Amino acid sequence: MVGILCSRIRVEEKALFEALRRRAIPFERLDEDRIKFAIGSPFPHAGVVLDRSIHHGRSLYALTLLNVARVPTVNRAKVARICGDKILTTAALARAGLPVPRTVVTFTREAALEAIEAMGYPVVLKPMVGSWGRLLAKINDRDAAEAVLEHKETLGSYQHGIFYIQEYVNKPQRDIRAIVVGDQTIGAIYRSSDHWITNTARNGRARWRFSLRRPAGARGRAAGQRAQLHARIPWLHGRDRPSGRRPCDRLRPAGRGNRSRRLTSHRNGAYCSGQQVHT
Ligand SMILES: Nc1ncnc2c1ncn2[C@@H]1O[C@H](COP(=O)(O)OP(=O)(O)OP(=O)(O)O)[C@@H](O)[C@H]1O
Ligand SMILES: [Mg+2]
Repeated sequence: MVGILCSRIRVEEKALFEALRRRAIPFERLDEDRIKFAIGSPFPHAGVVLDRSIHHGRSLYALTLLNVARVPTVNRAKVARICGDKILTTAALARAGLPVPRTVVTFTREAALEAIEAMGYPVVLKPMVGSWGRLLAKINDRDAAEAVLEHKETLGSYQHGIFYIQEYVNKPQRDIRAIVVGDQTIGAIYRSSDHWITNTARNGRARWRFSLRRPAGARGRAAGQRAQLHARIPWLHGRDRPSGRRPCDRLRPAGRGNRSRRLTSHRNGAYCSGQQVHT
């Protein structure tokens, strides 16, 4: 039995329910507004739980409590914890050897201002937890930096007093979002916008870069079966690429004879900016 944890049923959840019905896979909707976790007792429902919650905090605790009760989940709590937090994500990407934009984390306003001045304008400030491009700020000068840092510290929750400062990447009006399952990149979209924030939630236009309907080879099947990881990875491309390769070459799916195109093998000035990753 597959449990699907969600509250709002969007078009994606409808498609999932439909696909499960077509394959005669029994499933149960676990309504996050009504679900209860008795800590220390076995979880009475599903054999595996697919998390479709759009609320990061609910996801995190639900997955943690399910994993503690030995219920396998997609994603695992550990993956959700890293992917939901930009500081942990950037650290994981850097540790894995992927290029990330220069990023500095500070715990005080004064240290943040010093870091911003050292990095040079413009810089981007981001909340450590958040999505849909919300509360991102492009800081063009010292006046703006002082104002935004003070507002964040005074008006925000404690999380906004932890400052995530990133160099601004002068990209060609779009980012690339890749969907990864296991170690396979199964699809990617461009998100284009006239605004520097290209999220679709902020009127960015999505366009398929490629899709891989069936993971290639035994390795791909194994990755799909494990399904321990399902991450969306935004990529930013600086305008100044040192080679003539097309931006997305590295995002093509890995398969037999295609090892050089593995996601982790890229070079040439593309940055991995956000939620990922393999743990
Ligand atoms: N350092 C940067 N330089 C230039 N543009 C950036 C930078 N960081 C983010 N952006 C732009 O803002 C968008 C949103 O950034 P990010 O993915 O960090 O935020 P998010 O709130 O987690 O969004 P999502 O819900 O899509 O994951 C990126 O897709 C990109 O267009
Ligand atoms: Mg994100």
